[in-house]
Amino acid sequence: MLKQYELKLPGAVYSGESALDYIREICKGRYKKSLIFTDRGVSGAGLIDRPLKLLDEAGVEYHILEDLPSEPSCDEAQSVIDKGRGFGPDIIIAIGGGSVMDIAKLASLLIYSEHTVRELLESPEIAKKTVASIMIPTTAGTGSEATPNSIVAVPEKDLKVGIVNDEMIADYVILDGEMIKKLPRRIAASTGLDALCHAIECYTSKKANPFSDTFALEALELIINNIERACDDPDASDAKNSMMIAAFYAGIAITASGTTAVHALSYPLGGKYHIAHGVANAMLLMPVMRFNESSCRERLGLIYDRICKCGTAASEKEKSAWVLDRIEGIVEHLDIPKDLKEFGVGREDLDDLAAAGMDVKRLLVNNMRELSISDAKKIYLEIM
Ligand SMILES: NC(=O)c1ccc[n+]([C@@H]2O[C@H](COP(=O)([O-])OP(=O)(O)OC[C@H]3O[C@@H](n4cnc5c(N)ncnc54)[C@H](O)[C@@H]3O)[C@@H](O)[C@H]2O)c1
Ligand SMILES: [Zn+2]
Repeated sequence: MLKQYELKLPGAVYSGESALDYIREICKGRYKKSLIFTDRGVSGAGLIDRPLKLLDEAGVEYHILEDLPSEPSCDEAQSVIDKGRGFGPDIIIAIGGGSVMDIAKLASLLIYSEHTVRELLESPEIAKKTVASIMIPTTAGTGSEATPNSIVAVPEKDLKVGIVNDEMIADYVILDGEMIKKLPRRIAASTGLDALCHAIECYTSKKANPFSDTFALEALELIINNIERACDDPDASDAKNSMMIAAFYAGIAITASGTTAVHALSYPLGGKYHIAHGVANAMLLMPVMRFNESSCRERLGLIYDRICKCGTAASEKEKSAWVLDRIEGIVEHLDIPKDLKEFGVGREDLDDLAAAGMDVKRLLVNNMRELSISDAKKIYLEIM
């Protein structure tokens, strides 16, 4: 537990039924030119139509950047930002998953600045916010709408790197469950489990504190009770809304605390083998939690006390086992891939993977149980 802790939050957060309507209230009379960041999956699902109508109603001009890449590299993010510069926006609007939001957050610092994304890799705090931002997540999700983080791949290092700068925290966030109504089950499952990883890692992190605990526990309860229905039933709007809010809370938990070994070991799987962030985390979640269990037993027991209203487990060990069984059941139910071979990763890659994972010291220092390179190899071997 940290002895001192802080909480930095977006300027305003809007949620509930037809929350998208707030675009009009936020923009009308305040902004003139918006730059919309999105990708083809999101625009193809019809998810920018209503925001554009609302901007028309608010009398705000817009220019759309629609070709954003998934899981961007630092150079891809830079080229999107360079494309948007000429338009001269006074508000940036991200409509998409973590990939889109992360680029838009970097743009909010860099679009009117001399600094570059590559400079931020070395000195993340040199840049200041130059334009306001609205984050509208369409996955539930990364929680990027809440965090000061932007994750980019660095090709020459075969790694993903988190750029952290408080100035990237969004000015406005809109959480509308309608945005994930038609999210394909496979993406809903892996992105939802990413949110679960954020919550459980932050709750069992060395950086956990009363602020992060509040949001992490609430997120865990919402996710564990809703993720399966939200993924399985296209009409379960209550479950989808709960997932939207839970992913945001889990993002706040990241801001106040920090993720641990699941995210650390997943970065090389994303950076070198281009496995989607949510999928890599979902695959590593159980092996890492089983490794961590003895060091986090008390905290896992507290999760049980919060979410299992009529259980009979008495000891901390039984409670912690119940929580891990429940999460394992969710991972099974959601058909998460089990073997890295599906992604062309084999045992011959083990040494490089473990070395790269051990390099993510920023997150490994948060892990309650110290992890050696041979522990990292054993964890990867469980999914090979
Ligand atoms: N900044 C942070 O705090 C943070 C935290 C975790 C992860 N990340 C980063 O976020 C990225 C992953 O983001 P993600 O998991 O949200 O996925 P994503 O943004 O990469 O989207 C995945 C796919 O889903 C599609 N999609 C998104 N919403 C859709 C919808 N509603 N309907 C149909 N298709 C839709 C997209 O077009 C894309 O093809 C990674 O780069 C990861 O490193 C950032
Ligand atoms: Zn994540």
